[in-house]
Amino acid sequence: MSTLTIAIAKGRILDSMRPLWEAAMNVWPIPDSTRQLWFPPSAQTPGVLIARARDIPTMVSLGVADLGVVGLDVLREYPQPDILEVADLKISQCRIVMAGSHDSWPEGPVRIATKYPRIARQFLEQHQISGELVALSGSLELAPVLGLAPYIVDIVDTGQTLSEHDLHEILTIMASSARLIANPAHWYTKAEAQEFRDVMAYQREEVGNVKR
Ligand code: ATP
Ligand code: PRP
Repeated sequence: MSTLTIAIAKGRILDSMRPLWEAAMNVWPIPDSTRQLWFPPSAQTPGVLIARARDIPTMVSLGVADLGVVGLDVLREYPQPDILEVADLKISQCRIVMAGSHDSWPEGPVRIATKYPRIARQFLEQHQISGELVALSGSLELAPVLGLAPYIVDIVDTGQTLSEHDLHEILTIMASSARLIANPAHWYTKAEAQEFRDVMAYQREEVGNVKR
């Protein structure tokens, strides 16, 4: 009987975790097309909580989940001191970039649309760019097209979304991939948590780079 519960970010990360999990446990605890968000641990597999990405670090730090799976981008945007980052699962790999209608570095004060205001603000400070951030929660590529902001700070993977909106990548701010995070007390007291990390890291090498 497993005693572990793992909080996984819904969407792309949950989808790309599935092949790793199935390879490791031979069973995926989530039936197709269910709306259920909690699957308790069983004899065959650890339990799963499905939550919004930005809530995963909170759930892990409060100990309602022993482990969590979430993008490094989210960990950097919503830092949570009481968690351990225990593995790079190398799924949902992408980059956070600054992009714009022109490929030139901004001159003078700029407007930048982003769903990562913390990361974008740090980036502006580091490069001593003065700018105003416009916080959006998705479809960032619309901002330059609509004249809302000439630059964006957003996720890029293949670059298709940028190119379909005539946008140019100017600079990579950080690389991201899904990370396994742990509640520190549970990590050091539950051997099963460390076994889970080892088996997932092994399957990650076996299954290869799983994309959505
Ligand atoms: P939410 O719906 O909670 O705002 P989201 O739309 O960013 O989150 P997903 O698109 O499922 O959620 O992305 C989840 C994670 O996958 C992101 O935090 C990022 O780490 C990574 N990611 C996002 N877009 C891509 C992409 N195009 N290719 C690869 N990985 C991506
Ligand atoms: C993400 C990201 C980009 C796109 C990049 O969007 O915000 O729009 O993927 O991928 P690409 O470089 O392979 O084209 P997502 O599909 O998650 O939609 P949303 O963030 O706008 O909800």
